[in-house]
Amino acid sequence: MASDSGGYENLIIDFKDTVATITINRPDVLNALNAETTLELGRAVDSLAADDRFHVLIITGAGEQAFVAGADIGVLATYDPVEAREAARLGQSTFDKIEECGKPVIAAINGYALGGGCELALACHIRFAAEGAQIGLPEINLGVIPGHGGTQRLARLIGKSAATELICSGAHVNTTDAVRIGLVNAVHPADSLMEAVYKFASKLASKPRIAMRYALEAVNQGMNVTLKEGQAIEADLFGLCFATEDQTEGMSAFLEKRKANWKGR
Ligand code: COA
Repeated sequence: MASDSGGYENLIIDFKDTVATITINRPDVLNALNAETTLELGRAVDSLAADDRFHVLIITGAGEQAFVAGADIGVLATYDPVEAREAARLGQSTFDKIEECGKPVIAAINGYALGGGCELALACHIRFAAEGAQIGLPEINLGVIPGHGGTQRLARLIGKSAATELICSGAHVNTTDAVRIGLVNAVHPADSLMEAVYKFASKLASKPRIAMRYALEAVNQGMNVTLKEGQAIEADLFGLCFATEDQTEGMSAFLEKRKANWKGR
């Protein structure tokens, strides 16, 4: 696997074939997110989204204990209301970049995913977790509420009732419960998590890229509008697929009983 420092202080970027992995690298504080790390994450996502060599992104945390244990509480504790609002807006806009980057982003939750870490995972399109990981929004226990999209995305993902329970209790969910409530897609033994995630990422990376982008767009946009509006978005994007060579190739390959040779255009 190749890697690239990319001038990042708090991230490691690894590449294998068409899959890029971003590792949040502040293990001394369980990969807690400060502003510098959040800004670097936004820069990395922008750059990997624009780079045609990469079809799928994975986000994980350094070390064996944590994915991301939240926003850096040492920094949070110093904020005045204006700074807190700015920090929330920065986190939200960075995580929006992930959701809207046009390529599947998979969270490999290798340990604690708390507060901003849970919100980071929620902004990814798909979540896989290691056995023993704990996920939650404990902000209420610090006298605040989630500020990086958690109150909005969690309710959309697992429903209002279950989200309210988690946000208001601040409880950590174990991986068994996380799968049961639809918070993570699947759980793997810790020592094979990255292998399983990479295998799944490779499968997605082999699919036609433009249809993949439209599928993500249809699902994401549809979460925020009425059913009728969502279906109109779907019909437009479905129609646009018919402007791609991959649509012609995919259907010809099926009819000719051969494997499709995707062009990515
Ligand atoms: N911000 C800043 N530092 C953090 C952090 C965070 N969100 N989460 C953990 N750390 C630091 C700890 O202060 C500690 O630093 P130290 O070694 O200098 O004392 C180090 O990471 C290890 O954490 P520690 O608490 O000793 O590990 P633990 O295994 O006993 O507990 C957690 C792990 C995740 C349960 C605990 O660290 C925790 O509750 N973290 C905060 C989670 C949170 O509230 N996140 C939401 C923030 S909005």
